[in-house]
Amino acid sequence: MEQTLLLIKPDGVKRQLTGEVLARVERKGYVMTDLKMVMATEELLSEHYAEHREKPFFPDLVTYMTSGPIVAVIVEGARVIEGIRSLSGSTEPTLAAPGTIRGDLGRDWGTGQIENIVHSSDSPESAAREIGLWFN
Ligand code: CMP
Repeated sequence: MEQTLLLIKPDGVKRQLTGEVLARVERKGYVMTDLKMVMATEELLSEHYAEHREKPFFPDLVTYMTSGPIVAVIVEGARVIEGIRSLSGSTEPTLAAPGTIRGDLGRDWGTGQIENIVHSSDSPESAAREIGLWFN
């Protein structure tokens, strides 16, 4: 069965939205096969966000992602990679559709670093790589 990595980012954990996010995942019929709370290191984030390492927002992204614990979850189900991306909504909270996690709960304070609650893998290759990184 297909698997994906879902991260509940520090803003989601701090705002006590972990249960809200996981309830949406479970209500959709997906199954959590592993879950942990972890403080991300800069090294882990450099690997995880390898394609963003050279982007201007990367330093602020690291500050955001190391600002508190993250809940990392392996989620399993048919077409779960697409399914969790769809539940998450598009990257920017302002543009994410209402009804999605980011559309309903994400925040943009106008400071440049958006707070978009979750990350989810975007392809089978990313899912395998990211699950390996976060769950060894
Ligand atoms: P995520 O789905 O985890 O993938 C990359 C992350 O980088 C993204 O969510 C946002 O948290 C962040 N990000 C992407 N684009 C921007 C941007 N233009 N400005 C600030 N942060 C961004």
